Amino acid sequence: MTTETPIKFAYWVPNVSGGLVISNIEQRTHWGIDYNRKLAQIAEAAGFEYALSQIRFTAGYGADNQHESVSFSHALAAATERLKIIAALLPGPWNPALAAKQIATINNLTEGRIAVNVVSGWFRGEFSAIGEPWLDHDERYRRSEEFIRAMRGIWSEDDFTFAGDFYRFRNYTMKPKPIDPQPEIFQGGSSRAARDMAARVSDWYFTNGNTPEGLATQVEDIRAKAAEQGRRVKIGINSFAIARDTEAEARAVLGEIIDKANPDAVHGFAHEVKNAGAASPEGEGNWAKSSFDDLVQYNDGFRSNLIGTPEQIAGRIIALKDAGADLVLLGFLHFQEEVEFFGKRVIPLVRELEANRSRTAVAAE
Ligand SMILES: Cc1cc2nc3c(=O)[nH]c(=O)nc-3n(C[C@H](O)[C@H](O)[C@H](O)COP(=O)(O)O)c2cc1C
Repeated sequence: MTTETPIKFAYWVPNVSGGLVISNIEQRTHWGIDYNRKLAQIAEAAGFEYALSQIRFTAGYGADNQHESVSFSHALAAATERLKIIAALLPGPWNPALAAKQIATINNLTEGRIAVNVVSGWFRGEFSAIGEPWLDHDERYRRSEEFIRAMRGIWSEDDFTFAGDFYRFRNYTMKPKPIDPQPEIFQGGSSRAARDMAARVSDWYFTNGNTPEGLATQVEDIRAKAAEQGRRVKIGINSFAIARDTEAEARAVLGEIIDKANPDAVHGFAHEVKNAGAASPEGEGNWAKSSFDDLVQYNDGFRSNLIGTPEQIAGRIIALKDAGADLVLLGFLHFQEEVEFFGKRVIPLVRELEANRSRTAVAAE
C-alpha cells in the first residue's frame, strides 16, 4: 500500500540576537533562554519535530549576542519531551574527540533527542577573531568530512583508529556510547564540495532557500552520488515563512522587511559570504546567486516562497516535497506567535494534502 511519508518541520532556534532577517522591522523574538524554552514547548505542541540551533562566535550584522549551540541545545532538550534538538558544530573550534563525547553525553541524558549540524564556516572575520586558521573552501569540507567520519567511528567502535590529514585517533574507546539510534548528522551548504560530502557521510543535507526546480537539481546530484555508495541522504530546505490570512498581508510584511533592511549590514554580510558560497571553485555555493533582497534573510529563505495564505503555503510545501525535500526548516519574524499559527493553520493543511494523495495512490493501485 502506498502511504506518503509526512514531511518534517524544523525551526531555527533564535539563540543569536537580531532574529533571522537583517532588517530594522520589529521582531518579537528574543535570543534568551526563557523565550526559547517557551518557544520549544510551543513548537513541540505545534507539530515541529526538530529545532536547529546556530553556532556563532562573534558579532556581525546585528547578531551581537550569541549563546553557544551545544549547551543551549541541551537546555532546550531538558525543557521539552519529544522535540529533537540539532546542535551546530564547527570543525576547527571543535575537535571530534570533544564533540563526540559532548554529544554522546547529551544523547544519554536526553534519551537520544540530540542531533548535530556540522557546519563548515563562512565568516572569515569570525575565524580571525578567535585565532582559527581559515582554510580554502574545499579544504574546509575535507576537514568536515574527516570530522564526521571520526565522530561516527568514536560513537560506534571500540579501539577506534583513524589516520587523517586533520585528525588522528589510536585505539580509542569512548564510553558510554550514544544509545541507539546514533545521533543524526546534518550538514549545511550548496556547493559541489557540500553535496559530495553529504553523499558520502551525512544523514541529512540542509540547503539554502530555493525554488522547487533549484532544489531538485541539487537533490538529483546528491541522490545519484549517494546511491553509488548504497546510501540515501535526506534533504532539508530553508525557508522564511510569512503566513497571514490574506496574501496581500503576507506580501506587505515581506515588503516591510526589505524596505527596512539595513543596507550597510546586508552589504557587509554579502561581502563575508563571498568567502563561503561564491568562493567555492565551481561557483555553486550557498550564496552564489543571491540578490540584495535574498540576503536580507541569512539563508535565502524568501526564495522558497512560503509567503502567503496557509493554503498557498501548504501547496508550496508539497511542491518542495515533490522536488525532494524531506524536511522544511523555518524562520519567522515573531517566533512564538508564528510557530503556533503555523502549527494550527498550515501543518494540518499539509497533512490533509498528503492524506488525499495517499488515498488517490491507493485507489489507483
Ligand atoms: C540550514 C543551514 C544552517 C547553517 N548553520 C550554520 C551555523 O549555525 N553556523 C555557521 O557558521 N554556519 C552555518 N551554516 C553554513 C554552512 O555550514 C556552510 O558553511 C555554508 O552554507 C557555505 O556552504 P557552501 O559554500 O558549501 O555552499 C549553515 C548552513 C545552512 C544551509
